[in-house]
Formats: sequence, C-alpha cells, structure tokens
Amino acid sequence: MSFFGFLCQFFLPSLKVLHLHSLTFLDDDSFQNILSGCPVLEELDIQRINQGDNIKTLCICSSTLKKLCMYNSFCVTRLQPSVVIKAPVLEIFQLNDFVSSVFNVDELPSLVKANFTFYFENRRSEDYYNGVVGMLGKISNVQHLELSNGIPKVVTEAFDYNTLLFHNLTHLRLQICNIHWSILLDLLGHMPNLKV
Ligand SMILES: *[C@@H]1O[C@H](CO)[C@@H](O)[C@H](O)[C@H]1NC(C)=O
Ligand SMILES: *[C@@H]1O[C@H](CO)[C@@H](O)[C@H](O)[C@H]1NC(C)=O
Repeated sequence: MSFFGFLCQFFLPSLKVLHLHSLTFLDDDSFQNILSGCPVLEELDIQRINQGDNIKTLCICSSTLKKLCMYNSFCVTRLQPSVVIKAPVLEIFQLNDFVSSVFNVDELPSLVKANFTFYFENRRSEDYYNGVVGMLGKISNVQHLELSNGIPKVVTEAFDYNTLLFHNLTHLRLQICNIHWSILLDLLGHMPNLKV
C-alpha cells in the first residue's frame, strides 16, 4: 500500500492506460486530481482493497475514458463509500462490488460491454438497491451483458422499467440466485435481439 496524496499535482498529457491497485489516497480530491491530470485517459483499472482507501465518494469523471475496471472490496469502515460515474464515451465497464453503499451513474450512451458482480449479502440499504437498479437502467444500449450474483429483487425491478428494452443486447450471461422461471422468461422478453 502506498500513499498517493502527495503526488496529486501532476500532468500526464499522453497517458492512456492507468492501473491503480491498493492505494490509499489523501482524500477524495487527490483521486480527482489524478484523473484531471490525465486528459486523454482511455483505460482505468482501479482495485480498492485492504482497509479502504480514504475515499468517501469515488468520482470517475472523464470525457475520454473508454474502459473502466473497478474492484471494490475493502473492510468497511465507518465511511459509507459511494461511487459516481460520469463517463459519456465509456464502452467497456467491468465492476466487482462488495462494499459501496451508493451508486450514482450518469447516462452511458456508448457502453457496449458490461460485466457486473454485486454482493448483496447482509449489508444493503434501499439506496444501494436503487443505485444498482438505476445503473442497470443506464446501460440499456449494451451488446454484451454479464451479471453475476444478481438477486431477483434487483434484476426484476431494473427490468421492470417500462422503457427498459435491451434493443442492442446480443450476448447475455446471467447468474441469479433463486429466480423463478417465469421471471426469467419475462426478462428475456426485454431482449428482442438476443443471439447467445
Ligand atoms: C466477468 O466478471 C467475472 C467476475 O469478475 C469474471 O469471472 C468473468 O471472467 C468476466 N467476464 C468476462 C467476459 O470478462
Ligand atoms: C442501439 O440501438 C439503437 C436503436 O435501437 C441504435 O440507434 C443505436 O445505434 C444502437 N447502438 C449501438 C451501439 O449499436
């Protein structure tokens, strides 16, 4: 684990790929400063493990980011960590989330592939369910969707949005515990172009 806060004033005008693994930041702003110091960043891989990284609200705000891999798994913590994503040209989004309490995701009109693993066990608030449902609502353009450890409540609420039709979805891999067959058929009804 290293301490990244003091490095926050930098400018890497050509950097396209950045992996941040197991860091502790000074505060929310120090992470923001890193992102704003990378004006052409296309790929961000952030792995948040150990005891937490001091970030209360992780804001991934980038107008150039095309691929985001995020792994949120740290021992919580008094912080109720939340995640904000504003990435209008994001194409690939892979998320493993064990700990976040809130998700706040802007429209993701360019997203092509999404791969989400959520862990709902014994820790979730309504805010979290609503955040996950809202996030699934923002990815309705995806062509490939992989969802692991889903729970029927979240998945059915997400797909219940009247407008939520996955027009472009061709590839689906879904792992949901204890889902009733009729719900599954209903879900598949939202995916008229499914091929695989
Ligand atoms: C999706 O994420 C899961 C969990 O991290 C991983 O096992 C799987 O290989 C990923 N799928 C793809 C296509 O990368
Ligand atoms: C998704 O489908 C809509 C129409 O249903 C289309 O306008 C759009 O271009 C498609 N997006 C992609 C990325 O294929």
